[in-house]
Amino acid sequence: MADAINRRDFLKAAAIAAGPAVIAARGANEKINIGWIGVGTRGYAGLDWLHTASPDDVRITAICDTYQGYIARAKDRMQTIWGSAPAAYRDYRDLLADKNVDAVFIMTPEHLHHEMTIAALKAGKHVYIEKPLAHTIEEGFDIVHAAEKSGKVVQVGTQNRSSTLYQKAKELVEKGQIGEVHFVRAFWYRNSLPNDPAWRYAIPPEATPQNTDWGRFLGPAPKRPWSAERYFQWRLYWDYSGGISTDLLVHQTDIVNYMLNKTVPKSCVASGGIYRWTDQNDDRDVPDTFSAIYEYPGNFHINYSCYFGNDHYGYGEQLCGNEGTIEVMNRQDLYFTPEVFRGKAPDNIKSRQPIHLNGKNDFNESDGAINHFRNFIQSVLGHEKPIAPPLVGQQAAISGHMATLSFKNQKKVVWDEAANKYHFA
Ligand SMILES: NC(=O)c1ccc[n+]([C@@H]2O[C@H](COP(=O)([O-])OP(=O)(O)OC[C@H]3O[C@@H](n4cnc5c(N)ncnc54)[C@H](O)[C@@H]3O)[C@@H](O)[C@H]2O)c1
Repeated sequence: MADAINRRDFLKAAAIAAGPAVIAARGANEKINIGWIGVGTRGYAGLDWLHTASPDDVRITAICDTYQGYIARAKDRMQTIWGSAPAAYRDYRDLLADKNVDAVFIMTPEHLHHEMTIAALKAGKHVYIEKPLAHTIEEGFDIVHAAEKSGKVVQVGTQNRSSTLYQKAKELVEKGQIGEVHFVRAFWYRNSLPNDPAWRYAIPPEATPQNTDWGRFLGPAPKRPWSAERYFQWRLYWDYSGGISTDLLVHQTDIVNYMLNKTVPKSCVASGGIYRWTDQNDDRDVPDTFSAIYEYPGNFHINYSCYFGNDHYGYGEQLCGNEGTIEVMNRQDLYFTPEVFRGKAPDNIKSRQPIHLNGKNDFNESDGAINHFRNFIQSVLGHEKPIAPPLVGQQAAISGHMATLSFKNQKKVVWDEAANKYHFA
């Protein structure tokens, strides 16, 4: 329960240890056995990334998915990349009961994160759980609490923290390159053709209620008749997703928290709607146009926006310091630009040279995901600590949930630090 969590601990910034390591008395040649729950878009790509991240330390002994087509695809990929044939399960509880599994990667839709993570911890597994940590604030605290009690390693999939580009940005902020920072602008803009509506991913033509196991997909969500759209395009429906808030925004509030040592906002006002994808046959719930304004303790403000009808400005976080700006754009480029104060900049600011770093050219890296996987495995081995433990994942998720609550209720949401709870203003 939320109240059981010590308030000071909760507010502590990013680098929170998940406890000492873990795989006890492992022989030098023994590998960590991985069970993989969810081999859809992210989970399927992850099978390759883990091979790049830690080929010598792990093997994937089991996979689980409710859609048989994705199980078959993942088995093929496993043979190609890993040269092995994992056990395949339809029910994740059977995978958790497998003694040949030490740690799990959970890459299923948001509404299933809570029950799967809690069950995995109960079964004594270490857990990599994709973002957002959970579907509600209360579920997220449950996970934080269960992880603390378990002593297992838990990493949340907010991988930007493991990107060298963002680590460099944090270093620049901490050495005072942009002075005080009270204002951040963050955004994610996308576009697609009229015949390719946002988040309407392709539905495999052979999918049926039987070969997708509709009941297990629904899990704790409200019962309803089979819908291939809901199964394969779950991001569009409130029952399974917070939409932009928890799918996209959490990455960006998380990385701002990381770069600037922030935790949870003190308030949020969000606004938007379904303005672009308005076809009457499109039954989506979640907005395609969204803004959220956050106030944080310590005179700090985030201005966030997301739109699915124009991608000219792309993706970015702009840290607007009193002495300069750091922008991380499209998770590829970092720019530092000093303030010029209309030609009256003092010498100590004027002397700061503009910087442009490119993730690929300067760090040989395009995404933090592989480093993030590696950090998880190294933590299970006891050599590192997770850079995105559950509390950090929960802090990011809270900002997402506050935005959804504000949008749905058309009210300002206030975070009560003492009670670890929200209320409406
Ligand atoms: N960190 C990132 O940058 C990033 C990027 C994309 C997605 N994600 C996250 O990854 C997760 C999965 O997203 P996705 O885009 O891969 O979705 P997806 O729909 O492509 O994949 C989800 C998979 O879960 C399976 N599944 C559904 N119910 C199941 C159940 N009860 N048991 C086992 N398997 C079940 C589905 O069959 C599917 O294969 C989400 O939490 C999402 O937010 C993170």
